[in-house]
Amino acid sequence: MDAAWWQRGVVYQVYPRSLQDSDGDGTGDLNGITRRLDDLRALGVDAVWLSPIYPSPMTDFGYDVSDYCGIDPLFGTMAEFDALLARAHALGLKLILDFVPNHTSDQHPWFQASRERSGDKADWYLWRDEPNNWMANFGGSGWTWDERRGQFYYHSFLPTQPDLNWRNPAVKRAMYDALRFWLNKGVDGFRVDVIWMMLKDAEFRDNPPNQAWHPGDRPFEQFLPVYSADRPEVHEVVAEMRAVLDEYPERVLIGEIYLPIDKLVTYYGRDGDGAQLPFNFHLLLLPHWTAGAIASLINDYQAALPAGAWPNWVLGNHDRSRVATRVGPAQARVAAMLLLTLRGTPTIYMGDELGMLDTAIPTADIRDPAELREPGQGLGRDPERTPFPWDSGANHGFTTGTPWLPMGDTVPRSIQTDDPASMFSLHRRLLDLRRAHPALALGELSAASAEGGVLRYRRTLNGTAFEIVLNTGGAVAETVMDRGGTVVADTHEVGERPVEPGPLHLKPDQGLLIRTTT
Ligand code: GLC
Repeated sequence: MDAAWWQRGVVYQVYPRSLQDSDGDGTGDLNGITRRLDDLRALGVDAVWLSPIYPSPMTDFGYDVSDYCGIDPLFGTMAEFDALLARAHALGLKLILDFVPNHTSDQHPWFQASRERSGDKADWYLWRDEPNNWMANFGGSGWTWDERRGQFYYHSFLPTQPDLNWRNPAVKRAMYDALRFWLNKGVDGFRVDVIWMMLKDAEFRDNPPNQAWHPGDRPFEQFLPVYSADRPEVHEVVAEMRAVLDEYPERVLIGEIYLPIDKLVTYYGRDGDGAQLPFNFHLLLLPHWTAGAIASLINDYQAALPAGAWPNWVLGNHDRSRVATRVGPAQARVAAMLLLTLRGTPTIYMGDELGMLDTAIPTADIRDPAELREPGQGLGRDPERTPFPWDSGANHGFTTGTPWLPMGDTVPRSIQTDDPASMFSLHRRLLDLRRAHPALALGELSAASAEGGVLRYRRTLNGTAFEIVLNTGGAVAETVMDRGGTVVADTHEVGERPVEPGPLHLKPDQGLLIRTTT
Protein backbone atom coordinates (compact mmCIF):
# COMPACT_ATOMS: atom_id res chain seq x y z
CA MET A 1 0.00 0.00 0.00
CA ASP A 2 1.30 3.38 -1.00
CA ALA A 3 0.66 5.40 2.16
CA ALA A 4 1.56 9.00 2.96
CA TRP A 5 3.60 9.78 6.09
CA TRP A 6 0.53 11.21 7.80
CA GLN A 7 -1.33 7.92 7.25
CA ARG A 8 1.47 5.64 8.37
CA GLY A 9 2.78 7.84 11.20
CA VAL A 10 1.77 8.97 14.67
CA VAL A 11 1.24 12.63 15.58
CA TYR A 12 2.41 14.03 18.94
CA GLN A 13 0.94 17.30 20.21
CA VAL A 14 3.31 19.64 22.02
CA TYR A 15 1.90 22.47 24.13
CA PRO A 16 4.95 24.75 23.81
CA ARG A 17 4.55 26.50 27.16
CA SER A 18 4.88 23.18 28.95
CA LEU A 19 7.41 20.90 27.24
CA GLN A 20 10.81 22.34 28.22
CA ASP A 21 11.99 25.73 29.41
CA SER A 22 15.51 26.65 28.27
CA ASP A 23 15.95 30.15 29.74
CA GLY A 24 14.63 29.86 33.28
CA ASP A 25 11.56 32.09 32.87
CA GLY A 26 9.26 29.21 33.85
CA THR A 27 7.61 28.89 30.41
CA GLY A 28 8.60 26.37 27.76
CA ASP A 29 10.19 27.67 24.57
CA LEU A 30 11.51 26.72 21.12
CA ASN A 31 15.06 25.98 22.23
CA GLY A 32 13.60 23.70 24.87
CA ILE A 33 11.57 21.86 22.24
CA THR A 34 14.62 21.54 19.97
CA ARG A 35 16.58 20.06 22.85
CA ARG A 36 13.83 17.48 23.43
CA LEU A 37 13.28 16.37 19.83
CA ASP A 38 15.62 13.40 20.27
CA ASP A 39 13.51 12.31 23.23
CA LEU A 40 10.34 12.54 21.14
CA ARG A 41 12.03 10.51 18.44
CA ALA A 42 13.03 7.95 21.05
CA LEU A 43 9.39 7.59 22.06
CA GLY A 44 8.71 6.62 18.45
CA VAL A 45 6.38 9.29 17.10
CA ASP A 46 6.64 10.58 13.54
CA ALA A 47 5.24 14.11 13.56
CA VAL A 48 5.19 16.90 16.11
CA TRP A 49 2.34 19.41 16.15
CA LEU A 50 3.07 22.62 18.02
CA SER A 51 0.22 24.63 19.54
CA PRO A 52 0.62 28.32 18.51
CA ILE A 53 4.04 29.97 18.78
CA TYR A 54 3.16 33.22 16.96
CA PRO A 55 3.34 36.71 18.50
CA SER A 56 0.36 37.01 20.82
CA PRO A 57 -0.85 38.99 23.81
CA MET A 58 -1.57 35.49 25.24
CA THR A 59 -5.09 36.24 26.46
CA ASP A 60 -5.88 32.72 25.17
CA PHE A 61 -2.27 31.51 25.37
CA GLY A 62 -1.38 31.96 21.72
CA TYR A 63 -4.77 31.29 20.18
CA ASP A 64 -5.00 35.09 19.89
CA VAL A 65 -2.48 35.78 17.13
CA SER A 66 -1.17 39.30 16.44
CA ASP A 67 1.21 38.33 13.60
CA TYR A 68 0.83 35.15 11.54
CA CYS A 69 4.40 35.26 10.25
CA GLY A 70 6.42 35.72 13.42
CA ILE A 71 7.52 34.03 16.64
CA ASP A 72 6.51 35.32 20.05
CA PRO A 73 9.62 36.45 22.01
CA LEU A 74 8.41 34.34 24.93
CA PHE A 75 9.09 31.29 22.75
CA GLY A 76 12.19 32.57 20.96
CA THR A 77 13.21 33.94 17.58
CA MET A 78 12.69 33.04 13.94
CA ALA A 79 16.29 31.78 13.78
CA GLU A 80 15.51 29.46 16.68
CA PHE A 81 12.41 28.26 14.87
CA ASP A 82 14.47 27.55 11.77
CA ALA A 83 16.89 25.55 13.91
CA LEU A 84 14.00 23.59 15.44
CA LEU A 85 12.61 22.75 12.02
CA ALA A 86 16.03 21.72 10.70
CA ARG A 87 16.67 19.49 13.72
CA ALA A 88 13.23 17.88 13.41
CA HIS A 89 13.86 17.08 9.76
CA ALA A 90 17.35 15.79 10.49
CA LEU A 91 15.75 13.33 12.93
CA GLY A 92 13.13 12.31 10.39
CA LEU A 93 10.34 14.07 12.29
CA LYS A 94 7.65 16.08 10.50
CA LEU A 95 6.66 19.44 11.96
CA ILE A 96 3.05 20.62 11.99
CA LEU A 97 2.08 24.14 13.07
CA ASP A 98 -1.19 25.36 14.51
CA PHE A 99 -3.00 27.83 12.27
CA VAL A 100 -5.70 30.04 13.79
CA PRO A 101 -7.74 31.49 10.93
CA ASN A 102 -11.13 32.08 12.56
CA HIS A 103 -9.98 35.00 14.66
CA THR A 104 -6.99 37.23 15.33
CA SER A 105 -5.97 39.07 18.47
CA ASP A 106 -7.62 42.45 18.94
CA GLN A 107 -4.02 43.73 18.97
CA HIS A 108 -3.41 42.52 15.40
CA PRO A 109 -2.76 45.56 13.17
CA TRP A 110 -5.56 44.33 10.87
CA PHE A 111 -8.11 44.67 13.66
CA GLN A 112 -6.76 48.02 14.77
CA ALA A 113 -7.10 49.27 11.17
CA SER A 114 -10.57 47.74 10.90
CA ARG A 115 -11.78 49.92 13.76
CA GLU A 116 -11.91 52.75 11.17
CA ARG A 117 -14.91 52.61 8.88
CA SER A 118 -12.84 53.91 6.00
CA GLY A 119 -9.69 52.21 4.82
CA ASP A 120 -8.85 48.92 3.22
CA LYS A 121 -9.34 46.78 6.36
CA ALA A 122 -12.85 48.11 7.13
CA ASP A 123 -14.51 44.86 6.00
CA TRP A 124 -11.96 42.39 7.41
CA TYR A 125 -13.97 41.56 10.55
CA LEU A 126 -17.66 41.01 11.37
CA TRP A 127 -19.09 44.45 12.21
CA ARG A 128 -22.78 45.11 12.86
CA ASP A 129 -24.93 47.95 14.18
CA GLU A 130 -27.02 45.53 16.24
CA PRO A 131 -25.95 42.28 17.89
CA ASN A 132 -27.91 39.09 17.22
CA ASN A 133 -28.20 36.24 19.75
CA TRP A 134 -24.90 34.49 18.97
CA MET A 135 -22.96 33.66 22.11
CA ALA A 136 -19.22 33.53 22.84
CA ASN A 137 -17.68 30.15 23.67
CA PHE A 138 -16.04 31.55 26.78
CA GLY A 139 -19.26 33.05 28.18
CA GLY A 140 -21.42 36.09 27.45
CA SER A 141 -22.60 37.59 24.19
CA GLY A 142 -20.47 37.05 21.11
CA TRP A 143 -20.76 40.77 20.35
CA THR A 144 -18.65 43.54 21.84
CA TRP A 145 -19.16 47.27 21.27
CA ASP A 146 -16.23 49.19 19.81
CA GLU A 147 -16.33 52.87 20.74
CA ARG A 148 -14.03 54.03 17.96
CA ARG A 149 -15.88 52.31 15.14
CA GLY A 150 -19.29 52.81 16.75
CA GLN A 151 -20.34 49.24 15.97
CA PHE A 152 -20.34 45.78 17.49
CA TYR A 153 -17.84 43.12 16.38
CA TYR A 154 -18.37 39.38 16.64
CA HIS A 155 -16.03 37.03 18.49
CA SER A 156 -16.66 33.29 18.77
CA PHE A 157 -14.32 33.26 21.78
CA LEU A 158 -12.94 36.10 23.93
CA PRO A 159 -13.61 39.80 23.17
CA THR A 160 -9.83 39.93 22.55
CA GLN A 161 -10.30 37.40 19.69
CA PRO A 162 -12.35 39.15 16.95
CA ASP A 163 -13.51 36.84 14.13
CA LEU A 164 -12.18 37.51 10.64
CA ASN A 165 -14.54 37.97 7.70
CA TRP A 166 -13.75 34.97 5.52
CA ARG A 167 -16.18 36.20 2.85
CA ASN A 168 -13.68 38.94 2.03
CA PRO A 169 -11.23 37.84 -0.71
CA ALA A 170 -8.50 40.13 0.68
CA VAL A 171 -8.65 38.28 4.03
CA LYS A 172 -8.32 34.97 2.23
CA ARG A 173 -5.33 36.17 0.22
CA ALA A 174 -3.53 37.44 3.32
CA MET A 175 -4.15 34.22 5.22
CA TYR A 176 -3.13 31.95 2.34
CA ASP A 177 0.07 33.96 2.04
CA ALA A 178 0.73 33.34 5.73
CA LEU A 179 0.36 29.60 5.07
CA ARG A 180 2.82 29.87 2.18
CA PHE A 181 5.29 31.73 4.39
CA TRP A 182 5.62 28.64 6.62
CA LEU A 183 5.26 26.11 3.80
CA ASN A 184 8.17 27.79 2.02
CA LYS A 185 10.26 27.20 5.14
CA GLY A 186 9.44 23.50 4.89
CA VAL A 187 6.74 23.11 7.54
CA ASP A 188 4.94 19.81 6.86
CA GLY A 189 1.38 20.82 7.57
CA PHE A 190 -1.12 22.64 9.73
CA ARG A 191 -3.63 21.83 12.40
CA VAL A 192 -6.33 24.39 11.70
CA ASP A 193 -8.06 25.80 14.76
CA VAL A 194 -11.91 25.65 14.86
CA ILE A 195 -12.05 25.15 11.10
CA TRP A 196 -15.80 24.46 11.19
CA MET A 197 -16.54 27.90 12.62
CA MET A 198 -14.78 29.98 9.96
CA LEU A 199 -17.89 31.00 8.01
CA LYS A 200 -21.03 32.48 9.54
CA ASP A 201 -24.46 33.04 8.07
CA ALA A 202 -24.30 35.90 5.54
CA GLU A 203 -27.58 37.30 6.92
CA PHE A 204 -26.58 36.92 10.59
CA ARG A 205 -29.81 35.11 11.43
CA ASP A 206 -30.45 34.38 15.13
CA ASN A 207 -29.58 30.89 16.32
CA PRO A 208 -32.59 28.76 17.34
CA PRO A 209 -33.09 27.98 21.04
CA ASN A 210 -31.79 24.65 22.34
CA GLN A 211 -34.82 22.89 23.84
CA ALA A 212 -32.56 20.67 25.96
CA TRP A 213 -31.00 23.65 27.75
CA HIS A 214 -31.84 24.30 31.42
CA PRO A 215 -30.97 27.29 33.60
CA GLY A 216 -27.61 26.52 35.18
CA ASP A 217 -26.27 24.85 32.01
CA ARG A 218 -23.52 26.69 30.12
CA PRO A 219 -25.01 29.91 28.68
CA PHE A 220 -23.28 29.13 25.36
CA GLU A 221 -25.49 26.06 25.00
CA GLN A 222 -28.73 28.03 25.24
CA PHE A 223 -28.83 28.29 21.44
CA LEU A 224 -27.93 25.79 18.73
CA PRO A 225 -25.05 27.20 16.63
CA VAL A 226 -26.94 26.63 13.37
CA TYR A 227 -26.05 29.99 11.83
CA SER A 228 -22.74 30.70 13.57
CA ALA A 229 -20.83 27.50 12.66
CA ASP A 230 -20.65 24.60 10.17
CA ARG A 231 -22.14 26.67 7.33
CA PRO A 232 -22.18 24.88 3.95
CA GLU A 233 -19.95 27.57 2.40
CA VAL A 234 -17.11 26.73 4.82
CA HIS A 235 -16.19 23.76 2.63
CA GLU A 236 -15.16 26.09 -0.19
CA VAL A 237 -12.69 27.79 2.14
CA VAL A 238 -11.33 24.47 3.42
CA ALA A 239 -10.83 23.33 -0.17
CA GLU A 240 -8.99 26.56 -0.97
CA MET A 241 -6.69 26.07 2.02
CA ARG A 242 -6.06 22.51 0.94
CA ALA A 243 -5.21 23.75 -2.55
CA VAL A 244 -2.60 26.06 -1.03
CA LEU A 245 -1.01 23.11 0.79
CA ASP A 246 -1.18 21.06 -2.40
CA GLU A 247 1.06 23.61 -4.10
CA TYR A 248 3.75 21.81 -2.06
CA PRO A 249 4.48 18.07 -1.96
CA GLU A 250 3.38 15.83 0.91
CA ARG A 251 1.82 18.40 3.24
CA VAL A 252 -1.08 17.66 5.56
CA LEU A 253 -4.18 19.65 6.51
CA ILE A 254 -5.67 18.67 9.86
CA GLY A 255 -8.92 20.30 10.96
CA GLU A 256 -10.12 20.84 14.52
CA ILE A 257 -13.80 19.87 14.35
CA TYR A 258 -16.21 19.12 17.18
CA LEU A 259 -19.24 17.79 15.29
CA PRO A 260 -21.26 14.56 15.16
CA ILE A 261 -19.74 11.88 12.91
CA ASP A 262 -22.08 12.47 9.94
CA LYS A 263 -21.14 16.17 9.85
CA LEU A 264 -17.48 15.57 10.73
CA VAL A 265 -16.84 13.40 7.68
CA THR A 266 -18.10 16.13 5.32
CA TYR A 267 -14.82 17.94 6.12
CA TYR A 268 -12.92 15.42 3.98
CA GLY A 269 -14.44 17.52 1.22
CA ARG A 270 -15.97 16.70 -2.12
CA ASP A 271 -13.82 13.95 -3.65
CA GLY A 272 -11.31 14.39 -0.86
CA ASP A 273 -10.53 18.05 -1.58
CA GLY A 274 -10.94 19.09 2.09
CA ALA A 275 -8.91 18.25 5.20
CA GLN A 276 -6.92 15.01 4.99
CA LEU A 277 -7.44 14.51 8.72
CA PRO A 278 -10.59 16.09 10.17
CA PHE A 279 -9.77 15.45 13.82
CA ASN A 280 -11.98 12.69 15.22
CA PHE A 281 -12.55 13.60 18.87
CA HIS A 282 -15.24 11.03 19.56
CA LEU A 283 -13.09 8.93 21.92
CA LEU A 284 -12.58 12.13 23.90
CA LEU A 285 -16.28 12.86 23.97
CA LEU A 286 -17.63 9.40 24.90
CA PRO A 287 -19.96 9.90 27.87
CA HIS A 288 -19.41 6.29 29.00
CA TRP A 289 -16.16 4.40 28.43
CA THR A 290 -17.66 0.96 27.83
CA ALA A 291 -16.83 -1.80 25.35
CA GLY A 292 -20.27 -1.39 23.77
CA ALA A 293 -19.96 2.36 23.31
CA ILE A 294 -16.43 2.12 21.89
CA ALA A 295 -17.36 -0.73 19.52
CA SER A 296 -20.34 1.27 18.20
CA LEU A 297 -18.18 4.34 17.76
CA ILE A 298 -15.51 2.40 15.82
CA ASN A 299 -18.11 0.78 13.57
CA ASP A 300 -20.16 3.96 13.02
CA TYR A 301 -17.07 5.97 12.19
CA GLN A 302 -15.69 3.35 9.80
CA ALA A 303 -19.09 3.13 8.06
CA ALA A 304 -19.38 6.92 7.74
CA LEU A 305 -15.95 7.44 6.11
CA PRO A 306 -16.29 8.53 2.48
CA ALA A 307 -14.47 6.49 -0.19
CA GLY A 308 -10.73 7.13 -0.01
CA ALA A 309 -10.92 8.98 3.32
CA TRP A 310 -8.25 8.10 5.90
CA PRO A 311 -9.44 7.80 9.52
CA ASN A 312 -7.82 9.31 12.61
CA TRP A 313 -8.22 9.10 16.39
CA VAL A 314 -7.49 11.47 19.27
CA LEU A 315 -7.43 10.56 22.99
CA GLY A 316 -6.38 13.85 24.52
CA ASN A 317 -5.56 17.48 23.87
CA HIS A 318 -4.89 20.80 25.60
CA ASP A 319 -8.62 21.57 25.86
CA ARG A 320 -9.91 18.43 27.56
CA SER A 321 -9.44 16.58 30.81
CA ARG A 322 -6.59 14.06 30.51
CA VAL A 323 -7.42 10.50 29.47
CA ALA A 324 -5.91 9.02 32.66
CA THR A 325 -8.24 11.24 34.68
CA ARG A 326 -11.27 10.50 32.51
CA VAL A 327 -10.95 6.71 32.52
CA GLY A 328 -8.54 6.09 35.41
CA PRO A 329 -4.81 5.26 35.32
CA ALA A 330 -5.26 1.50 34.83
CA GLN A 331 -7.78 1.88 32.01
CA ALA A 332 -5.58 4.57 30.41
CA ARG A 333 -3.16 1.78 29.48
CA VAL A 334 -5.99 -0.01 27.69
CA ALA A 335 -6.93 3.29 26.02
CA ALA A 336 -3.35 3.65 24.78
CA MET A 337 -3.47 0.16 23.29
CA LEU A 338 -6.76 1.06 21.64
CA LEU A 339 -5.44 4.34 20.19
CA LEU A 340 -2.28 2.73 18.82
CA THR A 341 -3.96 -0.32 17.28
CA LEU A 342 -6.98 1.29 15.62
CA ARG A 343 -7.05 1.96 11.89
CA GLY A 344 -6.23 5.61 11.38
CA THR A 345 -3.63 8.19 12.34
CA PRO A 346 -3.34 8.47 16.14
CA THR A 347 -2.61 11.76 17.90
CA ILE A 348 -0.96 11.52 21.32
CA TYR A 349 -1.20 14.53 23.61
CA MET A 350 2.11 15.30 25.30
CA GLY A 351 2.28 13.66 28.73
CA ASP A 352 -0.41 11.08 28.10
CA GLU A 353 2.42 8.64 27.37
CA LEU A 354 3.46 9.09 31.02
CA GLY A 355 -0.10 8.66 32.27
CA MET A 356 -0.24 12.28 33.40
CA LEU A 357 -3.37 13.14 35.37
CA ASP A 358 -5.14 16.48 35.51
CA THR A 359 -3.30 18.59 38.06
CA ALA A 360 -5.36 20.39 40.69
CA ILE A 361 -4.78 24.13 40.30
CA PRO A 362 -5.01 26.33 43.41
CA THR A 363 -7.35 29.27 42.79
CA ALA A 364 -4.50 31.78 42.91
CA ASP A 365 -2.67 29.91 40.12
CA ILE A 366 -5.55 29.71 37.63
CA ARG A 367 -4.48 31.06 34.24
CA ASP A 368 -7.06 29.83 31.72
CA PRO A 369 -9.63 32.46 30.65
CA ALA A 370 -12.22 29.71 30.23
CA GLU A 371 -12.07 29.12 34.01
CA LEU A 372 -11.61 32.77 34.97
CA ARG A 373 -14.68 33.88 32.99
CA GLU A 374 -17.01 31.00 33.93
CA PRO A 375 -15.62 29.80 37.27
CA GLY A 376 -16.53 26.54 38.91
CA GLN A 377 -18.16 24.93 35.87
CA GLY A 378 -15.29 22.57 35.20
CA LEU A 379 -14.33 24.41 32.00
CA GLY A 380 -10.78 25.26 33.07
CA ARG A 381 -8.01 23.81 30.91
CA ASP A 382 -5.01 24.49 33.16
CA PRO A 383 -5.18 21.00 34.75
CA GLU A 384 -4.21 19.32 31.44
CA ARG A 385 -1.62 21.97 30.49
CA THR A 386 0.84 21.59 33.37
CA PRO A 387 4.56 21.15 32.59
CA PHE A 388 6.09 17.89 31.44
CA PRO A 389 8.05 15.99 34.10
CA TRP A 390 11.38 14.91 32.60
CA ASP A 391 13.43 13.74 35.56
CA SER A 392 13.64 13.71 39.34
CA GLY A 393 15.57 16.98 39.62
CA ALA A 394 14.18 20.36 40.66
CA ASN A 395 10.88 21.05 38.88
CA HIS A 396 11.31 17.66 37.24
CA GLY A 397 13.88 19.13 34.85
CA PHE A 398 11.28 21.38 33.22
CA THR A 399 12.67 24.73 34.35
CA THR A 400 15.29 26.27 36.62
CA GLY A 401 12.76 29.02 37.39
CA THR A 402 9.19 28.97 38.67
CA PRO A 403 6.93 26.89 36.41
CA TRP A 404 4.07 28.91 34.86
CA LEU A 405 1.61 26.29 36.16
CA PRO A 406 2.20 23.90 39.07
CA MET A 407 4.03 20.66 38.27
CA GLY A 408 1.87 17.58 38.87
CA ASP A 409 3.20 14.47 40.60
CA THR A 410 3.48 12.09 37.65
CA VAL A 411 6.42 9.68 37.73
CA PRO A 412 8.91 11.48 35.48
CA ARG A 413 9.96 10.21 32.13
CA SER A 414 13.56 9.33 33.06
CA ILE A 415 12.30 6.92 35.72
CA GLN A 416 9.62 5.47 33.45
CA THR A 417 12.19 4.94 30.68
CA ASP A 418 14.11 2.55 32.93
CA ASP A 419 11.00 0.67 33.99
CA PRO A 420 9.83 -1.88 31.40
CA ALA A 421 6.40 -2.00 33.08
CA SER A 422 5.80 1.77 32.92
CA MET A 423 3.16 3.58 30.89
CA PHE A 424 5.99 5.11 28.86
CA SER A 425 7.49 1.69 28.06
CA LEU A 426 4.06 0.41 27.04
CA HIS A 427 3.75 3.34 24.62
CA ARG A 428 7.21 2.74 23.21
CA ARG A 429 6.44 -0.94 22.72
CA LEU A 430 3.16 -0.21 20.95
CA LEU A 431 4.77 2.45 18.77
CA ASP A 432 7.60 0.06 17.85
CA LEU A 433 5.09 -2.62 16.88
CA ARG A 434 3.05 -0.15 14.87
CA ARG A 435 6.13 0.87 12.95
CA ALA A 436 7.36 -2.69 12.45
CA HIS A 437 4.03 -4.08 11.24
CA PRO A 438 2.18 -2.27 8.45
CA ALA A 439 -0.86 -4.40 9.40
CA LEU A 440 -1.21 -2.28 12.55
CA ALA A 441 -0.76 1.09 10.86
CA LEU A 442 -2.42 0.43 7.53
CA GLY A 443 -4.20 -2.91 7.67
CA GLU A 444 -7.90 -3.59 7.39
CA LEU A 445 -9.99 -3.29 10.53
CA SER A 446 -12.67 -5.90 11.17
CA ALA A 447 -15.95 -4.85 12.73
CA ALA A 448 -15.39 -4.23 16.43
CA SER A 449 -17.40 -6.32 18.86
CA ALA A 450 -18.26 -6.04 22.54
CA GLU A 451 -18.71 -9.11 24.71
CA GLY A 452 -19.67 -7.78 28.10
CA GLY A 453 -16.77 -5.54 29.07
CA VAL A 454 -14.42 -6.93 26.41
CA LEU A 455 -13.81 -5.00 23.21
CA ARG A 456 -12.33 -6.96 20.30
CA TYR A 457 -11.25 -6.30 16.73
CA ARG A 458 -8.75 -7.61 14.19
CA ARG A 459 -6.20 -5.89 11.98
CA THR A 460 -4.98 -7.69 8.87
CA LEU A 461 -2.70 -7.02 5.93
CA ASN A 462 -0.98 -9.33 3.44
CA GLY A 463 -1.09 -12.45 5.56
CA THR A 464 -0.28 -10.72 8.88
CA ALA A 465 -3.04 -10.56 11.48
CA PHE A 466 -3.44 -9.11 14.94
CA GLU A 467 -6.25 -9.63 17.39
CA ILE A 468 -6.85 -6.83 19.90
CA VAL A 469 -8.62 -7.87 23.10
CA LEU A 470 -9.34 -5.08 25.58
CA ASN A 471 -11.00 -5.44 28.97
CA THR A 472 -12.61 -2.01 29.37
CA GLY A 473 -13.85 -2.77 32.88
CA GLY A 474 -12.45 -3.17 36.34
CA ALA A 475 -13.58 -6.80 36.74
CA VAL A 476 -12.04 -10.03 35.46
CA ALA A 477 -13.43 -11.12 32.10
CA GLU A 478 -13.30 -14.04 29.74
CA THR A 479 -13.45 -14.39 26.00
CA VAL A 480 -12.74 -17.22 23.56
CA MET A 481 -9.91 -17.29 21.05
CA ASP A 482 -10.80 -19.22 17.91
CA ARG A 483 -7.13 -19.44 16.96
CA GLY A 484 -3.82 -19.37 18.74
CA GLY A 485 -1.07 -16.83 18.53
CA THR A 486 1.52 -14.79 20.41
CA VAL A 487 0.84 -11.98 22.85
CA VAL A 488 3.17 -9.23 21.64
CA ALA A 489 2.00 -6.47 23.97
CA ASP A 490 0.19 -6.65 27.29
CA THR A 491 -0.88 -3.81 29.57
CA HIS A 492 0.05 -5.98 32.57
CA GLU A 493 3.12 -8.00 31.67
CA VAL A 494 6.37 -7.51 29.83
CA GLY A 495 7.55 -9.93 27.17
CA GLU A 496 5.94 -12.19 24.59
CA ARG A 497 4.10 -15.44 25.29
CA PRO A 498 1.97 -17.90 23.38
CA VAL A 499 -1.84 -18.13 23.62
CA GLU A 500 -3.81 -21.23 22.78
CA PRO A 501 -7.18 -21.37 21.08
CA GLY A 502 -9.98 -21.57 23.64
CA PRO A 503 -10.91 -19.52 26.70
CA LEU A 504 -8.81 -16.45 27.40
CA HIS A 505 -8.93 -14.90 30.85
CA LEU A 506 -8.40 -11.19 31.29
CA LYS A 507 -7.49 -9.35 34.45
CA PRO A 508 -9.30 -6.11 35.28
CA ASP A 509 -8.21 -3.34 32.87
CA GLN A 510 -6.08 -5.73 30.84
CA GLY A 511 -5.47 -5.29 27.16
CA LEU A 512 -3.68 -7.75 24.87
CA LEU A 513 -2.27 -7.34 21.42
CA ILE A 514 -2.01 -10.81 19.92
CA ARG A 515 -0.36 -11.76 16.68
CA THR A 516 -2.38 -14.62 15.18
CA THR A 517 -2.59 -16.72 12.07
CA THR A 518 -4.84 -15.20 9.42
C1 GLC B 1 -9.46 25.85 19.84
C2 GLC B 1 -8.23 25.67 20.67
C3 GLC B 1 -8.47 26.27 22.03
C4 GLC B 1 -8.75 27.73 21.84
C5 GLC B 1 -9.90 27.96 20.87
C6 GLC B 1 -9.98 29.38 20.44
O1 GLC B 1 -10.54 25.14 20.32
O2 GLC B 1 -7.88 24.32 20.73
O3 GLC B 1 -7.39 26.07 22.90
O4 GLC B 1 -9.05 28.32 23.08
O5 GLC B 1 -9.75 27.20 19.70
O6 GLC B 1 -8.93 29.69 19.57
